Amino acid sequence: MRYKISGFEPYFEDEICNLYLGDTFELLKKCPKESVDAIFADPPYFLSNDGITCKGGKMVSVNKGNWDKIASAEEKHKFNRRWIKACKRVLKPNGSIWISGTLHNIYSIGMALEQEGFKIINNITWQKTNPPPNLACRCFTHSTETVLWAQKNEKKARHVFNYELMKEQNGGKQMKDVWTGSLTKKSEKKEGQHPTQKPLYLLERIVLASTNEGDIVLDPFCGSSTTGVACKLNNRKYVGFDNNLEYIELSKRRIEGS
Ligand SMILES: C[S@@+](CC[C@H](N)C(=O)[O-])C[C@H]1O[C@@H](n2cnc3c(N)ncnc32)[C@H](O)[C@@H]1O
Repeated sequence: MRYKISGFEPYFEDEICNLYLGDTFELLKKCPKESVDAIFADPPYFLSNDGITCKGGKMVSVNKGNWDKIASAEEKHKFNRRWIKACKRVLKPNGSIWISGTLHNIYSIGMALEQEGFKIINNITWQKTNPPPNLACRCFTHSTETVLWAQKNEKKARHVFNYELMKEQNGGKQMKDVWTGSLTKKSEKKEGQHPTQKPLYLLERIVLASTNEGDIVLDPFCGSSTTGVACKLNNRKYVGFDNNLEYIELSKRRIEGS
């Protein structure tokens, strides 16, 4: 499929996926209005503050890359409002948006969603069963992330929620807003490393809960394209943007290999 963005050529294209290498703000500006059914965004959390964490039993820097650094809280909020506003233009009237974060960015994201006129549907807590230990022992171990799910706040907007499927996947009981599971498995990283790769089960649940087969899902900060893999495995169409060639290459390998 070709998701046409005027002035840009996809870096990779197959029957269901389009990957674009470029700045998300430039790409979003040129996307056709109201052209995607759902958006999943895992934006920079801006947690790269030169601190330390634990990875594989070793002490390592928390820094993810320059893309995860920002000068001030004001700059962070400006950034979040800008891309959320740009996404709103591209989302169909009945579409919905999912955005992940931690305490570093999620309050700005929630505020930006409200300021841009979205209606928050759910506040999902992703509880990690195997978080890295807290090295400084000066606070509780960080073991959760938040995923906000929101719809365009239009009077007649009706977002998709595949309620029965979610209930079935939860052993016949209504699915709650706390989702528990492990960090991304090694087996999902066989094509290469992305420092903040999300686990596939999380994206499959998001895609299955809020879209129908054939729908177009956009990921404006796609990284290694976990969203794309989830879409491919579940017959959804996918458009991914990243400005890092290494990650777009990794996305391509993962999509081709799934
Ligand atoms: C948190 S990671 C996404 C990880 C992804 N969910 C996964 O599972 O692999 C955010 C990504 O946004 C990209 N990024 C940051 N700023 C960008 C921008 N202005 N335009 C395009 N991509 C950007 C980074 O290169 C990074 O890969």
